[in-house]
Amino acid sequence: MNLIVAVDEQWGIGKEGELLRRISTDMKRFRGITSGNVLILGRKTLESFPNKKPLPNREHVVLTNNLEYKAEGVTLCHSIAELPHVLEGFGDKEVFVAGGGSVYQQLLPFCEKAYITKIHATFPADTYFPDLDQLPEWEIAEEGEEQEENGVRFSFVLYRKK
Ligand SMILES: NC(=O)c1ccc[n+]([C@@H]2O[C@H](COP(=O)([O-])OP(=O)(O)OC[C@H]3O[C@@H](n4cnc5c(N)ncnc54)[C@H](OP(=O)(O)O)[C@@H]3O)[C@@H](O)[C@H]2O)c1
Repeated sequence: MNLIVAVDEQWGIGKEGELLRRISTDMKRFRGITSGNVLILGRKTLESFPNKKPLPNREHVVLTNNLEYKAEGVTLCHSIAELPHVLEGFGDKEVFVAGGGSVYQQLLPFCEKAYITKIHATFPADTYFPDLDQLPEWEIAEEGEEQEENGVRFSFVLYRKK
């Protein structure tokens, strides 16, 4: 499985249940990479989506400990141990870990590639992604040109497990 995330210069990813910045070029890229595939996300990230609904054209596997939890149009999963069994149901679709902080943390060891949007700024944050530059098993495979949207500079960086 792979993961996809937008981080700031401190590897911050969110604050008070929201993204740090909405960058439409990044959203479009997220859609392009993940459409037709499977997302794994935490219950809090699902609830941060517009109307708390899953995104179109993607399967969603949502982690929650709450056995009573109900959400339309998603597949619920109640532990990491249960995840391989749940994913079997999606055949050979690509699987992307899509957050939030707690889910990235737990599933990073199982990921091969990390599609990172690096935002060249620092924002107040309460949720962080592990700093891949400090983890010896990860290396940069591709680094895109810097881009700018509404005064926010960012670049797309692909990390790969060595
Ligand atoms: N920058 C980005 O690319 C990006 C992407 C995604 C999210 N985010 C941000 O990340 C923040 C949310 O992250 P978060 O860490 O607070 O929440 P989260 O990871 O989205 O969701 C946490 C919840 O997932 C469930 N969960 C996690 N691990 C589980 C396990 N092993 N078994 C069963 N359930 C499990 C639990 O739900 P229950 O409480 O229901 O048991 C837990 O409370 C938001 O600010 C969001 O905007 C940023």
